[in-house]
Amino acid sequence: MSVLLAIETSCDETSIAVLDYQTHELRSTVVYTQMQAHAKHGGVVPELASRMHTEHIESVYKQALDEAKCTQSDIACIAVTKGPGLIGSLMVGQMFAKTLSLLLDVPLRGIHHIAGHIYATQIEHEMKFPHLSLVVSGGHTELVFMKAHNTFDVLGTTRDDAIGEVYDKVARVLQLPYPGGPSIDRLFESYTGPYLSFPISDLPSYEMSYSGLKSSVINMYHNAMQRKETIDYAQIAASFQKSAVEQVLQKLHKAVSEYHPKQISVVGGVSSNTYLRRRVYEEFNNVEVCIPSPMYCTDNAAMIGMRALYLQNDEGSEDITMSARSSWEIE
Ligand code: KG4
Ligand code: ZN
Repeated sequence: MSVLLAIETSCDETSIAVLDYQTHELRSTVVYTQMQAHAKHGGVVPELASRMHTEHIESVYKQALDEAKCTQSDIACIAVTKGPGLIGSLMVGQMFAKTLSLLLDVPLRGIHHIAGHIYATQIEHEMKFPHLSLVVSGGHTELVFMKAHNTFDVLGTTRDDAIGEVYDKVARVLQLPYPGGPSIDRLFESYTGPYLSFPISDLPSYEMSYSGLKSSVINMYHNAMQRKETIDYAQIAASFQKSAVEQVLQKLHKAVSEYHPKQISVVGGVSSNTYLRRRVYEEFNNVEVCIPSPMYCTDNAAMIGMRALYLQNDEGSEDITMSARSSWEIE
């Protein structure tokens, strides 16, 4: 057997996946989430994240090989997230990958985390081109257009905060359990009352912004607290989600009518959001819609492995920056 071993440690998930090198079949994906440890602090503590990756990476590795029913000698290639992400966390995955690659004398490929999120689509669907991907995660909000495999054109990104970051921040202010995204998702689904009106940024072209929405929600909450008014937490959270989702949908509609993709995907942690998924499936009838299953939306090594399998040999062993835009450059 010949397999590709993929490693993802860019934030608070220690994940290793095994993929068949020839058939691309996903043989195992193990994700050890540190969520509980960070929940006590209301957000990811970078120092704690790196330490926990160091503690768990070996057992995650062994479990991934066991579940894939293979041994170390079956590994033909190793792929690891190179960035972007928390530097200490990334270093744990990279050192583990480099050591293993030297020991086994197999090639090592550095993968761009966002390219990985986009290739999560390929795990359950056949990617079709031209392809348009909406990336919505804790660190990124981007529209990426692909004419073919390995060509990424970032049409637009957020000027300030990422959508997931704002979900987490709003949830924290509203004292909802960490992580904020799933908490707001659940509240929204059970909320039936009227919505408050929060701003939706309307920047030119494909630029997006989330800081105005964040400030507006937080200010309204603090003002209501000061005036000792009764606060409807569910109403604020649900109204926030409505505005947050509206902005990315407006940009996605604009890009679909301008670029006429054959297929669209929505990827990254926020794409596991029930309301966002429903809206995309409902509103985009004339184009094939692919949204990965929730387990492949949040950080996982399967997407890193799938991305590595599509790296062209003549482009070298690393994910390269196809467009000059800053969010795709790894320092
Ligand atoms: O892709 P991801 O796992 O990590 C990054 O690369 O950032 O995304 C994490 C983000 C967090 O902000 C989290 O709150 C958000 O995804 N998220 C959600 C949901 N599940 C996770 N946001 C909205 N609704 C969800 N169901
Ligand atoms: Zn991610």
